[in-house]
Amino acid sequence: MTTAAEKVQARITGTGSYLPEKILTNADLEKIVDTNDEWIVSRTGMKERRIASDDETNSYMGTEAAKVALKEASLSVDDIDLILFATVTPDYMFPSTACLVQKNLKATNAAAFDMQATCSGYIYALATAKAYIESGLYRNILVIASDKLSSFIDYSDRSTCILFGDGAASCVVSGSGKGLLISNAALGADGSLSDIIKVPAGGSRKPASIETVEAKEHYIKMEGREVYKHAVRRMEAASLESLRQVGITESDISYLIPHQANLRIIEGLAKRFQIGKEKVYVTIHKYGNTSASSCGIALHELMNEKKLDLGKRILLVAFGSGLTWGASVLTVTDK
Ligand code: UT7
Repeated sequence: MTTAAEKVQARITGTGSYLPEKILTNADLEKIVDTNDEWIVSRTGMKERRIASDDETNSYMGTEAAKVALKEASLSVDDIDLILFATVTPDYMFPSTACLVQKNLKATNAAAFDMQATCSGYIYALATAKAYIESGLYRNILVIASDKLSSFIDYSDRSTCILFGDGAASCVVSGSGKGLLISNAALGADGSLSDIIKVPAGGSRKPASIETVEAKEHYIKMEGREVYKHAVRRMEAASLESLRQVGITESDISYLIPHQANLRIIEGLAKRFQIGKEKVYVTIHKYGNTSASSCGIALHELMNEKKLDLGKRILLVAFGSGLTWGASVLTVTDK
């Protein structure tokens, strides 16, 4: 019988990311739509974003990020039992992008599936991996959160095309080893607001047709102000719930990694929690909003830049279409 003392605790033992080389700057966007650098920077904090080439498919980006995470975790692909791929921009409707990564990595011992939680994808995937590891079903899980949103952007719509970029994040979640304990995961959703940010066509409800293409219904449509309002509320509530679940306060947090959707949202959140600027990890100026991967890319960069002492805590929080939201406290562990 397993005693409480022997309980397996899921932790991240390696992180990785992949960003395409091609940069789309605000100056580039000024040439495409009626916008300007001053508007974009003051309203969003974004200066540039990465755009994947035709060869840089979502499965390719995810595979490259996964290689980095596996190396950091000192695991071989044969050790992986499950590949979990969070995305809203799969290579195909089916097969899953997770299966394409499984093929690329030759991870023949791994089961594989995609999950869809929009911009909250990384945190939803961490929560799922935690549940699988702690139930004893799997020992090592490769989590990937990756999106190629540039394939779903209308580059004549200034209200959305300035916001999004491409990129992938990955991590290995295991039941032992040093890294970051996934101390909790507070997830939530509100499907009654599913219309305020979505891609209207291309699913089984409204399959592709000449009409849907002409009406540009395969691109992201967003009610920006409405989404903004809910993002602020939900990220704040999810953060508070996370702190409550772990039994800590904001002063116990060494770094806050919020979803990188808008610098004003991020700064508002930091202010509410009285977390100083130096503790808020921001990548938005470089990458824009990379959807599912945004928290994971930031986490990988933070882990490579800073040396975090034992017991230090990071708070991840995200929000996206669905609506979905989630927050998770990660705690540095040495065993
Ligand atoms: O990852 C999922 C979560 N996503 C988010 O959390 C995004 C949340 N929303 C936002 O971040 C903001 O709502 C935006 C950045 C998208 C927009 O900022 P805003 O301050 O809410 O602007 P707005 O949509 O209310 O538009 C204000 C004005 C409008 O002009 P009028 O009607 O006042 O004359 C827009 O047409 O700004 C105009 N505008 C632009 N002007 C220059 C909209 N986009 C642009 C642009 N350049 N790119």
